[in-house]
Amino acid sequence: MTTMLKVTNLDARYGAIQILRQISFDVSEGEVVVILGANGAGKTTTLRALCGMVSTSGSVNFEGQEIRGNDTADIVRLGVAHVPQGRGTFPELSVLDNLQLGAYVRKDRKGVEEDLERWFDAFPRLRERKTQAAGSLSGGEQQMLAVARAMMANPRLLLLDEPSLGLAPLIIEDLFRRFGEINKETGTTMLIVEQNANLALNIADRGYVIESGRIEVGGTAAELRSNDAVREAYLGA
Ligand SMILES: Nc1ncnc2c1ncn2[C@@H]1O[C@H](COP(=O)(O)OP(=O)(O)OP(=O)(O)O)[C@@H](O)[C@H]1O
Ligand SMILES: [Mg+2]
Repeated sequence: MTTMLKVTNLDARYGAIQILRQISFDVSEGEVVVILGANGAGKTTTLRALCGMVSTSGSVNFEGQEIRGNDTADIVRLGVAHVPQGRGTFPELSVLDNLQLGAYVRKDRKGVEEDLERWFDAFPRLRERKTQAAGSLSGGEQQMLAVARAMMANPRLLLLDEPSLGLAPLIIEDLFRRFGEINKETGTTMLIVEQNANLALNIADRGYVIESGRIEVGGTAAELRSNDAVREAYLGA
């Protein structure tokens, strides 16, 4: 398998406070990789570090190119889409406008139109609510919109920050099933950070556990499921 993302000895800091400490991990093309960790472990900071949104040192290699230190806009242009924690849609804009904004880096008008239909097919509720303001959608609908919006950029790598946050168990289950389908159907590589270890490991190929800004364990989804420390801390067993 071809390595798509290779992170080596990455540090991240907010001002004088160091959050990530020498984290290293990789994601291969087509994989779903999950980063598990408790509140405050550094999951969001990890995704922000990949997107050039916090101050970092170390290396982030994306498809053979060093991107650490690059501007967020340049990283997006290379094909990295980020669904931030708390969704990241424009609440006052309509569903349709949000989706079209997601495609702003693309020049292929026809492809964009086709993809709009594709994501409306995947999430029929969004089609029904096309003209509705994003901010008036339910939590689950907003999360669908955030994912569809990110997919409108036709990304190589989709970064999802705690997509289960604030959603009811059944909706979370449905959403994760969709992530699995999107990965299989479009081949989009995914890096998901989550506290909901059970569902995330269901669709993940591999995973890592981050604690206090350090990666403590890594392995296949099956290996993590059978790791005693992981079971105890994240799987409630
Ligand atoms: N802008 C900031 N300035 C200073 N410290 C910050 C800032 N953002 C986050 N932190 C701190 O960095 C640490 C890691 O935060 P981060 O948001 O990455 O955690 P997380 O794993 O995503 O947690 P959660 O599951 O609660 O979302 C926390 O201790 C947090 O207080
Ligand atoms: Mg977070």
